[in-house]
Amino acid sequence: MAKSLGAAAFLGAALFAHTLAAQTATCSYNITNEWNTGYTGDITITNRGSSAINGWSVNWQYATNRLSSSWNANVSGSNPYSASNLSWNGNIQPGQSVSFGFQVNKNGGSAERPSVGGSICSGSVASSSAPASSVPSSIASSSPSSVASSVISSMASSSPVSSSSVASSTPGSSSGNQQCNWYGTLYPLCVTTTNGWGWEDQRSCIARSTCAAQPAPFGIVGSGSSTPVSSSSSSLSSSSVVSSIRSSSSSSSSSVATGNGLASLADFPIGVAVAASGGNADIFTSSARQNIVRAEFNQITAENIMKMSYMYSGSNFSFTNSDRLVSWAAQNGQTVHGHALVWHPSYQLPNWASDSNANFRQDFARHIDTVAAHFAGQVKSWDVVNEALFDSADDPDGRGSANGYRQSVFYRQFGGPEYIDEAFRRARAADPTAELYYNDFNTEENGAKTTALVNLVQRLLNNGVPIDGVGFQMHVMNDYPSIANIRQAMQKIVALSPTLKIKITELDVRLNNPYDGNSSNDYTNRNDCAVSCAGLDRQKARYKEIVQAYLEVVPPGRRGGITVWGIADPDSWLYTHQNLPDWPLLFNDNLQPKPAYQGVVEALSGR
Ligand code: G3I
Repeated sequence: MAKSLGAAAFLGAALFAHTLAAQTATCSYNITNEWNTGYTGDITITNRGSSAINGWSVNWQYATNRLSSSWNANVSGSNPYSASNLSWNGNIQPGQSVSFGFQVNKNGGSAERPSVGGSICSGSVASSSAPASSVPSSIASSSPSSVASSVISSMASSSPVSSSSVASSTPGSSSGNQQCNWYGTLYPLCVTTTNGWGWEDQRSCIARSTCAAQPAPFGIVGSGSSTPVSSSSSSLSSSSVVSSIRSSSSSSSSSVATGNGLASLADFPIGVAVAASGGNADIFTSSARQNIVRAEFNQITAENIMKMSYMYSGSNFSFTNSDRLVSWAAQNGQTVHGHALVWHPSYQLPNWASDSNANFRQDFARHIDTVAAHFAGQVKSWDVVNEALFDSADDPDGRGSANGYRQSVFYRQFGGPEYIDEAFRRARAADPTAELYYNDFNTEENGAKTTALVNLVQRLLNNGVPIDGVGFQMHVMNDYPSIANIRQAMQKIVALSPTLKIKITELDVRLNNPYDGNSSNDYTNRNDCAVSCAGLDRQKARYKEIVQAYLEVVPPGRRGGITVWGIADPDSWLYTHQNLPDWPLLFNDNLQPKPAYQGVVEALSGR
C-alpha cells in the first residue's frame, strides 16, 4: 500500500507526466463509501484509445477535503495531489481500466468530486475531468452501497480481459509479463507465496494457484497465461444476483420486500462478519456470499482472521491472510472494522501472551504498534479491546470479577485494567485516523455488566484515553433481553459524553432461549416454516425493534454502524462454535433473505 505522500515522489511523478504522450483515456473520480467525516474513493483510468498506455500519472485538488491514505498508486503532494502507477499497474490495454484507491478526510466540508487532470486524461470524455456534474448520475446520486454496486457491476460488465490483450509491466518478478486480474484490478503474481494472497516486495500479490482458480474472465492474464479467459463467460454482477436473490420466493409466510441493498438505507455503516479461514462460509470460496456482501453491506468485520493469534506465524508477524481480506474489502466497496487488537481467549492468543513471559509488556506494546500501523489507512475502526469485563457465563478459570473486570492474562500481567488504557493510547499513536472502540457482550442487558461498562468507559474518559466509541455485540434471543433494557443500556453510554459513538458490532438473534428451561426449544425445522413461522416472524420483529431502538437512542452523528455476525444461518458461530443450530441471521440456509431481513429494511426505512 502506498501511504507516503513525499515531495520527492511528487516531483518525480510530475516529471514523469511530461514524458507521456497525450492519450485518449477517461479518468473518473468515484466515491465508494462515505461516512460523516470522510470517505473512500477511487480514480479509474480507462484506455479509450487503440494503443496501449505504458505508465500513467494523474493529479487533482480539493477545496476543503484532504487525502489521508492511498493504495495501488504512488501518491504524492499535499493538495494538489499527484498519483502515478506502480510497477505492476502501469500498462493499460485498449478498453481496459486501472483503479487506485484512497481515503479522504472531509476536513469539515462535504465530500468533493474534483476534476482529474493529467496528460493521460487529455482528450478524455466527460468522466475524465470530473466535477460533480460530469459524474454519471447513477454514481453521483447514489448512496454508498449502490455506488459500490455500480462500480462493481461496471467493472464486471466492462470488456473482459483477454489473455492476448494484456501485456504486463511487472519487472523483477518470475511471473514475467503475467498478472492476476482480480475482479477487474490487476495485481502481481506472487513469486514465493504458493497459496492465497502474499505480501512481497512491499505490496500485495496473489499466488498463482489462487489467481488461476478465479472464474473467467478473471484469473491469470498476459502472455503465457494458462488460464483460459473467455468473453462469453458470466461476469460477476452483484445487482443481478441481488435481484435474483430478492425475486426468489421467501421461505416464510412473511413477504420479503425487494429494494436497494441494506446499506443504501442508512447513512452509517451496515456491516457483516465474514469467515475467511476455510469451510463453506469462507468468503473466498463462496461467490454467492461475495455477492450478498457486495449487494447488501458496506463494511466487513473479519469473524476470526484479524484476532491476535492470526497475526503471527510462529513468533513472527504474518499478515498474508488478513491482507487478503482487507484487500478484498477495498476492491468490493467495503470498509473494514478491525476485530480485535486485544482479546483474551487462550486458544487465540499469541505465544507471548502467557503468565510466564517476563517481557509481556514489551510484546503487548509491539503487537498493538505493529498491527495497528500495518492496517493504518485500511481499517476504518478497531475493536481495540474486546470483552475485558467479567461475565459469570464465561469464566473458565473461575477467577471471578475484580471490580467488574475479567482477570485475563492481560489483567494479571498488568496487575489491573491499565492494559486497556495502554492499548487505546498505542492504537491511536499507530493509526491516528482509525476510530477506536471498546467492545463487549451482554452489556445490552442493562444489568451489572452494563454498570461495569459505564464505569470502565467513564474511567477511560477521566484518564484522557483516546476512546471513540463503544460496541454492543448484541448476541441476543427472540425473548431476551427486553427491548427496554437494550434501549436503556445504549442510552447510558450515549449519556457519558457528547461525542462517543455507539456501534452494534455482532448482531444476531437466536430463535430459542436455551436458558429458559423451556422444553419446547426446537432446533429442527425452524428455518422453513415447516413447523411454524411464528419464531421467524418474532425474529423479524426483534431485528426491527433493535434497529429502531438504535436509531431512536443514538443521535445521527454518533452512529458507528450496525454489523450482523455472519451472512447466512449455517455460517453462524452458534452452529460452528456452539453446535446450536438456531437460525440467528438475515439469510437462510439457501442464502435467501428471511423475514428478519425485512425487519431490518422496515426499521432502516422508517416503516
Ligand atoms: O480455523 C480452525 C480450523 O483450522 C480448525 O480445524 C478448527 C478446529 O476447531 O478450528 C478452526 O478455528 C475455529 C475458528 O472459529 C474458525 O472457524 C476456532 O476453533 C473457533 O474457536 C472459532 O470460533 C470463533 C469464536 O469467536 C472464537 O474465536 C467464531 O467463529 C466466532 O464467531 C466467534 O466470534 C466471537 C467474537 O469474536 C467476539 N464476540 C463473541 C463472538 C461469538 O462467540
